[in-house]
Amino acid sequence: MSNYRKVMTLDEFTIQELRNFPTATGALSGLLRDIGLAAKRVNVEVNKAGLVDILGDYGSINVQGEDVKKLDIFANNQFVGVLRHGISCAGVGSEENDDIIVFDDELSKNASYVVLMDPLDGSSNIDVNVSIGTIFSVFRRVTPKGQPVTMEDFLQPGKFQVAAGYIIYGSSTMMVYATKRGVNGFTLDPSIGEFCLSHPDIKTPEFGKFYSVNHGIFFQYAEKVRNYINRCQQKTKEAGGPYTQRYIGSMVADLHRNLIKGGIFMYPGTGEKPNGKLRLLYECNPFGFILEKAGGKASNGEERILEVKPTELHQRTPFFAGSKGMMEELESCLE
Ligand code: AHG
Repeated sequence: MSNYRKVMTLDEFTIQELRNFPTATGALSGLLRDIGLAAKRVNVEVNKAGLVDILGDYGSINVQGEDVKKLDIFANNQFVGVLRHGISCAGVGSEENDDIIVFDDELSKNASYVVLMDPLDGSSNIDVNVSIGTIFSVFRRVTPKGQPVTMEDFLQPGKFQVAAGYIIYGSSTMMVYATKRGVNGFTLDPSIGEFCLSHPDIKTPEFGKFYSVNHGIFFQYAEKVRNYINRCQQKTKEAGGPYTQRYIGSMVADLHRNLIKGGIFMYPGTGEKPNGKLRLLYECNPFGFILEKAGGKASNGEERILEVKPTELHQRTPFFAGSKGMMEELESCLE
């Protein structure tokens, strides 16, 4: 028996995919590789975060008298920079920037895609060494090529995403992305500095054991949501229970665990914040796309999240996502 085991890197995988689709231009593959490159740079800094003075507030001065950039600003600069210098992206909408960033050089004006992203989600968890992540969403532009992209290109319903993914900076660093062909996960092998295919064709279980929600604000949720949470707590063995509550407070980590193991994640609206906390374009749409491609479901409690027509860049929305069977139980409670 041969000991040789072929490990496919992210670059090899995207090129392999291209070979299977001879009509593809390679632009999307290039864009995903660009994101993978920026992720590796961010990973280095995230890993060093406990060692170096990178955690101060943006604009403050560190002991060397240098400007300290918060890690989320660093991540934003890396992702926007790599996309700006690539040839596939015409503009970026980032959680870190008030407005869209339009790349208006000749090459970028002719690029097909725009990217929406949260460069470092869960960043309030960094200084306690909790897993954090990057989330991204890719759309084909709707305005004609040859001119700068506009807000119209970014405010598309999530069902028009052509790819979406996340990077989790955890006990290992992984990049997971979905296209219409499915969901694949790549683990960063630090010895070679490459993302390697470790989780091919991810499918989320139809039922899981985990429900993930912030219990601290339980009494601010609508009654129907509270009823569902109570139902999770009362799940008997005969009915597939008991369920276990798991909530990290870092969306990428919570949803990554539930994607792999099966579960449901909820960030409902509250009396005070009817639209909840999470952003439709940077967080919910990409995870909605990934979950659906993995066989799960995602909604805002009333409709499929991918159907929602965005009206503004930084729009917030209630969000529920996870295993198909659990989402259907939730839907029956919310009806
Ligand atoms: P932040 O980037 O400010 O740390 O926010 C993290 C987000 C998301 O990742 C997580 O699911 C949610 O906020 C947690 O919010 P609560 O603390 O309100 O539960």
